[in-house]
Amino acid sequence: MRIVLLGAPGAGKGTQAKKLIEKYGIPQISTGDILRKAVADGTPLGKEAKSYMDKGELVPDSVVIGLVKERLQQDDCKKGFILDGFPRNTSQAETLDKVLDEMGMPLDVALSVDVDMDILMKRLTGRRTCKQCGQMYNVYFSPPKQEGVCDKCGGELYQRDDDKEETIRKRLEVYEAQTAPLIDYYEKKGILKRVNGVGDIDEIFSNICSILDGLKK
Ligand code: AP5
Ligand code: MG
Ligand code: ZN
Repeated sequence: MRIVLLGAPGAGKGTQAKKLIEKYGIPQISTGDILRKAVADGTPLGKEAKSYMDKGELVPDSVVIGLVKERLQQDDCKKGFILDGFPRNTSQAETLDKVLDEMGMPLDVALSVDVDMDILMKRLTGRRTCKQCGQMYNVYFSPPKQEGVCDKCGGELYQRDDDKEETIRKRLEVYEAQTAPLIDYYEKKGILKRVNGVGDIDEIFSNICSILDGLKK
């Protein structure tokens, strides 16, 4: 199954992707995670990306597209993949289509996780992530059992640099202007599905699974 997850910052793309990995055994390709790792490792790419990420702007296509192409060529993507946070504008979407066509593995579905803008701010300011295993928590909606500590692996929880109110506002603006038009793009291609992203995380996941299982035949 080859999936693109669409949705605003904080819609729950990462949260749902983690569950999809477990259920379907396919890898998550999160450009945000790849970029944050490059920033943490202090690579030249990370240094370039950081200035954009801290402002809540998109990192240039030339950087991101290269990363994704390279990742898609790895063996584990033959079984399928979950793209999370990519594509994020029309030019990325067109390039992705071209690359996947060349590889003979077109997308099966673009799944939009829909959440109202007013809920997103609270989700993002409350988000905490495990340094070790990447599990997401939320101090308002799904706190860890012990503050600052991951339930799953005991790792330390951290707050993302771009989860500050100012930066979040900019990210939401960028989403509306550049990424939301992709909903139309995939609708026209006939592979768009939508799921309500508000409510219980497991219930949303079960709705997503019904959609995906409906495609497999
Ligand atoms: P990226 O890392 O992709 O961030 P984003 O798109 O802003 O999305 P988030 O990761 O913030 O949200 P999410 O939907 O994954 O939500 P989550 O599951 O964590 O990108 C970061 C930056 O990198 C960009 O700004 C850009 O600079 C750069 N970048 C990345 N990709 C790029 C690209 N392709 N091109 C150019 N630049 C790129 O959930 C959020 C919170 O809500 C969590 O606390 C979670 O626990 C909670 N939550 C989840 N579901 C629920 C629920 N149902 N109810 C209550 N709480 C919930
Ligand atoms: Mg994410
Ligand atoms: Zn952990």
